[in-house]
Amino acid sequence: MTVIAVVPGDGIGPEVTDEAVKVLDELQLGLDFDHLDAVNATTFQTTGTGLSPSDFERIRSARSVLFGAIGAPGINNSEYGRGVLIKMRFALDLYVNHRPAFLWDARLSPLRDDRRRNVDCVIVRENSEGLYVGVGGRVRADTPDEIAIDEEINTYHGVSRVLDYAFSIARRSVCLVDKSNAVPNGGRLWQRCWRDAVEGRPDIDCSHLYVDAAAMKLIADPSAFDVIVTNNSYGDILSDLTAQLAGGLGMAASANLNPKTGFGVYEPVHGSAPDIAGQGRANPVGAILSAALLCEGIGLGKAAAAIRAAVSSALAAGRCTPDIGGSLSTREAGAAIRAELR
Ligand code: NAD
Ligand code: IPM
Ligand code: MN
Repeated sequence: MTVIAVVPGDGIGPEVTDEAVKVLDELQLGLDFDHLDAVNATTFQTTGTGLSPSDFERIRSARSVLFGAIGAPGINNSEYGRGVLIKMRFALDLYVNHRPAFLWDARLSPLRDDRRRNVDCVIVRENSEGLYVGVGGRVRADTPDEIAIDEEINTYHGVSRVLDYAFSIARRSVCLVDKSNAVPNGGRLWQRCWRDAVEGRPDIDCSHLYVDAAAMKLIADPSAFDVIVTNNSYGDILSDLTAQLAGGLGMAASANLNPKTGFGVYEPVHGSAPDIAGQGRANPVGAILSAALLCEGIGLGKAAAAIRAAVSSALAAGRCTPDIGGSLSTREAGAAIRAELR
């Protein structure tokens, strides 16, 4: 049996993850789900950590992980998130965060100019270093003279391996996004690794943008992009932007990957959305498309294609949640996608 650890999390996490698991069940793929329901904000509040050592072991020993979202109002979300999500990314060395954006239906585009609506790109976000390393500290904390320091760490090893991944999935182009005009040391390292990577790929159209201009260009004409490779923070920000270009956060899937070990944590790009949690209004498509990425990651390419086709048909028929113009609940939207699978 292939064991998939399921971590629903908080807020809308369990609502959308449930629909993703039902889609995988429907396909009868011989997967065995190990549900880790204790990874949540209550556990963090009562024990001081959201992810106990034994839960982490269950995750580590699974083939891959389906993750919902974590986070709750009024708690220390930085400590909580660092102990669960960022812990998995770093401790399991999931150095790629693969975040595709695809516009399934032109009606979902926020852009006025329909010639520029076509969105079919992947943000390849470096997922194991950058500003997320948690190196730094506070000087004269809680005084009017406080200085807060968060170091951004970039290594030749880390940058070159994520560039390699970006080139490995490129269909026509790779665009490096950085801020090397203002951030001298990391900028220089990314540029050096980039020159080395570009040299080996004359078949791929290679370009570079500073992140501010990249944000502008993504809105002006997203159809110009195939793969965008960037650091941890810029990838976080730009992937919410590309999610909206493809209909909204509820549509966006992602895979935290170690391409060398084949292990992955698959999760929608969105968070726990406390503003709509418990109302049955969350869009399950991002979670369901994350399950498609999981299938791809464990060698079930046909199942991945079937899930995507079912999502496409359900959306074309307007069978979806209110955030993208439908009137279905989370469960009804999930059921509509499963019905298309049959
Ligand atoms: P969010 O993604 O939870 O929500 C942003 C907005 O998008 C909200 O208005 C929400 O209602 C909407 N939205 C998100 N997903 C949706 C869906 N599936 N269907 C319909 N609408 C959807 O981001 P936030 O509000 O900045 O953060 C809320 C909490 O989630 C915080 O604690 C944050 O730290 C956490 N978070 C967790 C993850 C994760 O676990 N991977 C990712 C992002 C944010
Ligand atoms: C994401 C989230 C996380 C991140 C937060 C919750 C730590 O925004 O997965 O995009 O910044 O990576
Ligand atoms: Mn994010």
